[in-house]
Amino acid sequence: MTITKTWLITGTSSGFGKALATLVAQTDGQHLLATARKMADLDYLDAFDHGQITKIILDVTDDAEVAALSDKIRAAGGVDILVNNAGLGYFATTEEAQAADVRQLFDVNFFGLAAVTKVVLPFMRAARQGVIVNISSVLGLTSLPTLGYYSASKYAVEGYSEGLRQEVAPLGIQVMLVEPSGARTNWAGASGKHVIPALADYQAFKANVVGVKNGAGHEPGNPTKIAQLIFASVTNETQVPLHLPLGAFATNAAQEHLTAVLNEVTARRATALKADD
Ligand SMILES: NC(=O)c1ccc[n+]([C@@H]2O[C@H](COP(=O)([O-])OP(=O)(O)OC[C@H]3O[C@@H](n4cnc5c(N)ncnc54)[C@H](OP(=O)(O)O)[C@@H]3O)[C@@H](O)[C@H]2O)c1
Repeated sequence: MTITKTWLITGTSSGFGKALATLVAQTDGQHLLATARKMADLDYLDAFDHGQITKIILDVTDDAEVAALSDKIRAAGGVDILVNNAGLGYFATTEEAQAADVRQLFDVNFFGLAAVTKVVLPFMRAARQGVIVNISSVLGLTSLPTLGYYSASKYAVEGYSEGLRQEVAPLGIQVMLVEPSGARTNWAGASGKHVIPALADYQAFKANVVGVKNGAGHEPGNPTKIAQLIFASVTNETQVPLHLPLGAFATNAAQEHLTAVLNEVTARRATALKADD
């Protein structure tokens, strides 16, 4: 079997990462570098392994484990597709959010993603090709009550990716942002932290946090279909899209929010132009 593409995917123990790793592992010609925090969480890959799968322990917030990736990538002969998937959910009003939780959220969702990308980039630059897929969220394009900090972590991913894209496009490296809406993974359940609003002024938002927790596992998004759509976008298109919203809520909410932003920017154009000499 000739290997045509090597994938490095973070957070393949569950959810989107597991669905995508399963698809890559079952598709001819793909070499998979599957990462997880616990090796035992990757046992499910054994059923598909005929020598094309490399399992790697990786907590994206662990500097030593991130640095050690370099040798693994060199041994694999480089990486064609990096999927920065590892991420956490966090559900709290902005005033009631805990500072340590917010730092952990950003450590995983943003700084971890950036650290892994930094290790992969030298290999992609040397090869003058590669695709970096950053799993953002529709909440990287708009936000909702009790999701302000989660959104902030994903807006960080969006801004970082837009800047990165312009730096690496001349080197043959593409960047894609995936922006799903609610899907049936552990994100809203076991992987998320839920802070029920306690302040009387925020009781209206209690239902948001309770609702997302109780609704975990019943979201419309299907991780298997999402993995297939990501795989198809990366492998079938010569030029990957910068934005890939997935799910009805994702496309509707993104369109509504971005239209409102465009309308407001357009309405303030005359004022904006007065700021320069
Ligand atoms: N599901 C949704 O509704 C939704 C919508 C939009 C975007 N997203 C994003 O999709 C991505 C995948 O999440 P998911 O929905 O598939 O949820 P999930 O089932 O909870 O999977 C999250 C993955 O991230 C891993 N992870 C957490 N902290 C990590 C760390 N410090 N280092 C390495 N891996 C870590 C988890 O590993 P462990 O098993 O070890 O915890 C798990 O493999 C996340 O970036 C999430 O923000 C999800």
